[in-house]
Amino acid sequence: MEVVIVEDAAAGGEVVAQSIAALLRAAPSALLGVATGSTPGPVYRALTAKVEAGEVDVSSARIAQLDEYVGLPTGHPESYRSVVLREVVEPLGLGRDSFMGPDGSAADVRAACLAYDRALAAAGGVDLQLLGIGTDGHIGFNEPCSSLASRTRIKTLTEQTRVDNARFFGGDIEQVPRHVITQGIGTILEARHLVLLATGENKADAVALAVEGPVASVVPASALQLHPHATVVVDEAAASKL
Ligand code: GLP
Repeated sequence: MEVVIVEDAAAGGEVVAQSIAALLRAAPSALLGVATGSTPGPVYRALTAKVEAGEVDVSSARIAQLDEYVGLPTGHPESYRSVVLREVVEPLGLGRDSFMGPDGSAADVRAACLAYDRALAAAGGVDLQLLGIGTDGHIGFNEPCSSLASRTRIKTLTEQTRVDNARFFGGDIEQVPRHVITQGIGTILEARHLVLLATGENKADAVALAVEGPVASVVPASALQLHPHATVVVDEAAASKL
């Protein structure tokens, strides 16, 4: 595992965007796994700036979603499909046909999970998976005690994660769905390069456990230690307990 410590969130976004741009120069139709939440915003903005400056051509890139809420109405602005379209696909000038994600409004959610796991493999697998980290050490929506071999499946959110994510739902925890679809940890580990970005002091404990603690399902992000090509990009605040 490589740990890169940068000054602040903007610098972290630039470092990760450079890595994505390098990948797309070498493999223009690479499958890029994207995360949601507030952390990756600087990455998407830095990458968009590179596209606008003509530094990289992303027109053949493909985008894959990491996770999704279950049960939000189609088109809900906080569904992760909407967020990825708004923050990644549209700014990069990509078409919706370049984008794949699990169907959180499917009548048969289990079948949708299986279908998405298979679709990722059929697409050749994820080349670079960008990850954030929850304050409880989760990646995607793999909450503590998720199996390290897990596949894309339904999960129930912890109270902590619903509290953390209530800010996207007007501060009202009751609006935060209880169930989600997430790529499993085993699924995530199949990506060829994992890049975890963490910024801010509230991530310092989770980062320290993930990077320096034992590999354990109680800290899902510690699974990155098992991966042959994992990069952790942290700002000074998130690195403060390393
Ligand atoms: C959610 C997402 C994760 C993300 C986490 C942290 O739970 N499912 O993919 O990493 O939030 O979000 P933030 O970056 O806003 O702290």
